Amino acid sequence: MENTLIESNIRSDPFDQFERWYSEVIENKIDSYNSMAVATVDASGMPSVRFILLKGFDRDGFVFYTNYTSEKAKELHHNPRACLAFYWKEIEKQVRIWGRVEKVSRKESEEYFHSRPHGSQLGAWASRQSSIIPDRSVLENRFEALRQKYTEVDGKVPLPEFWGGYRVIPEAFEFWQGRPSRLHDRIRYTKKGNSWEIVRLAP
Ligand SMILES: Cc1cc2nc3c(=O)[nH]c(=O)nc-3n(C[C@H](O)[C@H](O)[C@H](O)COP(=O)(O)O)c2cc1C
Repeated sequence: MENTLIESNIRSDPFDQFERWYSEVIENKIDSYNSMAVATVDASGMPSVRFILLKGFDRDGFVFYTNYTSEKAKELHHNPRACLAFYWKEIEKQVRIWGRVEKVSRKESEEYFHSRPHGSQLGAWASRQSSIIPDRSVLENRFEALRQKYTEVDGKVPLPEFWGGYRVIPEAFEFWQGRPSRLHDRIRYTKKGNSWEIVRLAP
């Protein structure tokens, strides 16, 4: 396992570097490896951060799924930019990614939605995420009504119009590797036209 970040050994492309680390976390069965903190900023400039599951990435960006009427969706509507942070404690690695955010296509959201367990599909319909509800029974009653409407055998659950994916299109990455005596490695990649500028930052 690699536990240093040395200029002569890193990838010149941050997507390749991410892929290398991500394969490592999967191989090593790192706990919650696909949990990432997603920071957004509201119209008044107040930041907000929450954990979200990474559902896919490639050179087009990093994809997560959520409710399009949630707090984060409102924030992204005002300011379509986000910062992601992954922390893999067991291997002392952190990755931060900054970028522009776009909704994924309906087709992509459809495919993902229908790959989810039946209960999760109903859960997406049942929860108007981030709205105030009087008590838990509201959620449970809605869920039960949906369960009867869309039985597992014959009721294909449609993709809610208020639910889908976002793609974070990276403009910068920072890879952090914990090292002894707090002399950690930090390598920052910043997009400059079609290439990536690489610098080392003090820990
Ligand atoms: C480990 C973890 C994973 C989560 N994954 C998701 C997710 O993939 N999508 C989602 O909408 N919320 C997810 N949540 C819930 C969010 O953290 C958050 O409570 C919710 O999205 C509402 O956030 P908002 O009010 O800022 O929009 C997850 C929470 C945890 C702790």
